[in-house]
Amino acid sequence: MSEPTLPIKSLDARYYTDPAIYKAEQLGVLARTWQFAGHVSQLKQPGDYFCFDIAGESLFCIKTQAGDIKGYFNVCQHRAHQLLKGSGNTTLVVCPYHAWSYELTGELRSGPNIKSVPGFDKESICLNEIRVENFCGFLFANLDPLAKPMSEWYPNVAEELSAFVPDIDRLEAVEWVTAEEKCNWKVSVENYSECYHCQLNHPTFANGIVKASTYDIQPQGYCLRHTTECQNLDKMSYPIDVNANEFAGHYSSWFLWPMTSFQVYPGNVLNTYHWRPVDHENVVIHRGWFGTEEADKSMLRQLAVQDRETTVEEDVHLVESVQRGLNSRGYTPGPLVLDPNHGVKSEHSIAALQRWMREAVDE
Ligand code: FES
Ligand SMILES: [Fe+2]
Repeated sequence: MSEPTLPIKSLDARYYTDPAIYKAEQLGVLARTWQFAGHVSQLKQPGDYFCFDIAGESLFCIKTQAGDIKGYFNVCQHRAHQLLKGSGNTTLVVCPYHAWSYELTGELRSGPNIKSVPGFDKESICLNEIRVENFCGFLFANLDPLAKPMSEWYPNVAEELSAFVPDIDRLEAVEWVTAEEKCNWKVSVENYSECYHCQLNHPTFANGIVKASTYDIQPQGYCLRHTTECQNLDKMSYPIDVNANEFAGHYSSWFLWPMTSFQVYPGNVLNTYHWRPVDHENVVIHRGWFGTEEADKSMLRQLAVQDRETTVEEDVHLVESVQRGLNSRGYTPGPLVLDPNHGVKSEHSIAALQRWMREAVDE
């Protein structure tokens, strides 16, 4: 008779509460993984740029004269002042401190009085570049110069996403919604990655968008793929034409470890999540809602509001309560519910996620 396998326990509380673990993640996993930076529609003209932060670093993406998209650390190579803020358009990247200027391709172009410096090697000074990938129009950055491409981290996801959203190359952000959560980023990401809590906590999502009883989540490389059947059309909370194309009546979601997710709602409505940790017990969630120029923007905005007021708000209360509990001396990590048959009431996805979380800190 084979030994019964012991239930797998949830991750120790210290992974979510210890500032030293968060620091290790900033230097490690958060700096070595692909993370959402922005969308190509933000960089239409040469010189268009936007700034963002990953792993405690200020970074920016910019479009060159040749039309390439580059990413750089947002720091001057003279005496470290920040170069750009927010978003905009510029012909050169000019540092506000002493006006050194850089080409959009990173090379130092000029600086007041630098020619007077004997031996000043202008050619050797250049902005520090980062890896940027265009993933179906979504720009991802990775601070690891040797990182494997996204197609290896997240097999088949670009192909599946393109099939689910036929107009994926023509999207623009229609609405951005944020939510602050007083919890470690991993509490929020875990909460996103199981639907064991959906029927009890998300009546609108579980009754008005998906058939929660059919929800399933399976790993696909470092992606967690969520699939489900949708509600009967008469129960949908917004109008859709299921016959518009092959996937118009489907819901699916692709969570890309460690903190980005693409969701496609019935009607080919693409919306994204990305998480930006503030410190070891605060995180901000950004929800993007995307559509083509011809899309029904008011429907998308209405859906964004409905989602913020229901699912997102409901989750804020759940994750904040969990964070308080993780700080309690009365908590001992409990067993994960791993049903061999998977399905909505199983936490297989949490087991995968916590394995990646452990590896990220311990190996
Ligand atoms: S720090 Fe940028 S020009 Fe001096
Ligand atoms: Fe939730």
